[in-house]
Amino acid sequence: MVTNWEDPISSARRSVRSAAPEPMLAVAAALNSPPAPAPAPVAAPQPDSRNGGQQGVTGLENVEFGAARITVDDKRMINCRADLNQLVPFKYKWAWQKYLDACANHWMPQEINMTADIALWRRPDGLGADERTIIKRNLGFFASADSLVANNLVLAVYRHITNPECRQYLLRQAFEEALHTHAYQYCVESLGLDEAEVYNMYREVPSIHDKAAWAMRFTQSLGDPDFHTGTPENDQRLLRDLIAFYIVFEGIFFYVGFVQVLSMGRRNKMTGCAEQFQYILRDESMHMNFGIDVINQIKIENPQLWTAAFQQEVIGMLREAVELESRYAADTMPRGVLGLNAKMFEEYLRFIANRRCAQIGLPEQYPGATNPFPWMSELMDLKKEKNFFETRVTEYQTGGALNWD
Ligand SMILES: [Fe+2]
Ligand SMILES: [Fe+2]
Repeated sequence: MVTNWEDPISSARRSVRSAAPEPMLAVAAALNSPPAPAPAPVAAPQPDSRNGGQQGVTGLENVEFGAARITVDDKRMINCRADLNQLVPFKYKWAWQKYLDACANHWMPQEINMTADIALWRRPDGLGADERTIIKRNLGFFASADSLVANNLVLAVYRHITNPECRQYLLRQAFEEALHTHAYQYCVESLGLDEAEVYNMYREVPSIHDKAAWAMRFTQSLGDPDFHTGTPENDQRLLRDLIAFYIVFEGIFFYVGFVQVLSMGRRNKMTGCAEQFQYILRDESMHMNFGIDVINQIKIENPQLWTAAFQQEVIGMLREAVELESRYAADTMPRGVLGLNAKMFEEYLRFIANRRCAQIGLPEQYPGATNPFPWMSELMDLKKEKNFFETRVTEYQTGGALNWD
C-alpha cells in the first residue's frame, strides 16, 4: 500500500513543470476509450437558455441536452465551465490516484486498543504533570481543529474547485476529517477527560485559540455565499485559503502535536493515543500533498495570480505560522520532557517551513535549518512500523459482509 507520506519535493516541482496541457493523459484517454459514437442526430445543440448556456462551476446547473462531449482539455481546476457531474475523462490522474490510496488506507478509531492508556492515565503515578498536559492540550487543539478543517473543506473550498476527480478526493478527505474528529472524541471518552474543558480549549487557551483564529479569517472570506471566483482578486482569495489550510494548518500547525504524542508512544506511554495520531498523521500527510498539487496546478493554469506581492504575502503567512506554532510548543511543553524541548521545536518548524516553501515554489526562509526529529520521517511508513507499538497496524480489511436476507 502506498502511504504517500511526504512526497519528495522533486515530485511537487515536477508537477509544476508538467504545465497545463497534459498530452500524455489525453493520448492515454483516447487509447483507452472506444471511439465515441457519433452524437445522435438531434437538432444542432443550442446553449441552454435557462442558465445562459454556461455549464460547470457548481455542478448543479441545468443539464444541457445535446451539448458537446467533454474532453480533458475542457477541464480546469478553477472557473471551469465543463459539466462537473462527469468524472471521466480524467485530467488530473494524481487526484484520482490519491483518492484510491486514501481508500486503501481506511481505518476506524475504535479498532485501536485503548486499554493500556486508560490504565496508565488512571494510575496516580502513571504519568508526570507535563505528560498529562501534552495529552490534554493536544486533544484540546485537535478536537476542534479537525472540525474546522472539515467545515472549511465542505462549506468554503469544495464549491470553488471545479474538477470532478479533485472533488472525489475532497469527499474522501471530508470523511477522513470526520474520522479524526471521531478519534479525538474516542480518546477523550476513553480517558474520561472533562469534555467541556477539552472542547473549549480553543476558546480558553491562548496558544490554541490563536491558531484557530488565524485560520478562521481565511475560511470566513471564502465561505461567504456571495463569494465567487472568476476575478484575479477572488481567485487569489481562494489560493490564499488553500495555502492557509493545506500548507499552514495541516502542514505546520499539526506537527508539534504529532511529534509530542508520537514521542510518548515511542517511550511506550499512551500507545493507543499515539497509534490514533499515527493513523491521522498518515491521512494528514496525504491531505497536504493533495493540497500542494492543487495549489501548484492552479498556479500553472493561472500564472497571473502568482505575483511578487502575493508571494511575499504567502511568505509572511508561513513566517507567522512558525511563530504561532513555536508558541504552541512552548505552551504545551513549558519544561523539557520526553527528551524534547521548545528550542528543538523551533528548529523543527523552521525545517518543515523550508520544505513547505520549496513544495509550492517559494524560496526557503530559514537557511540551514535541520530536522531534530529524524524518526518522524521513519514513522511515516506504517508498514515498516508494524511492531512499533505492538498493536495492530495492518492494512484495513473491509469486514462487513453483505446480508441479503
Ligand atoms: Fe484531519
Ligand atoms: Fe486533514
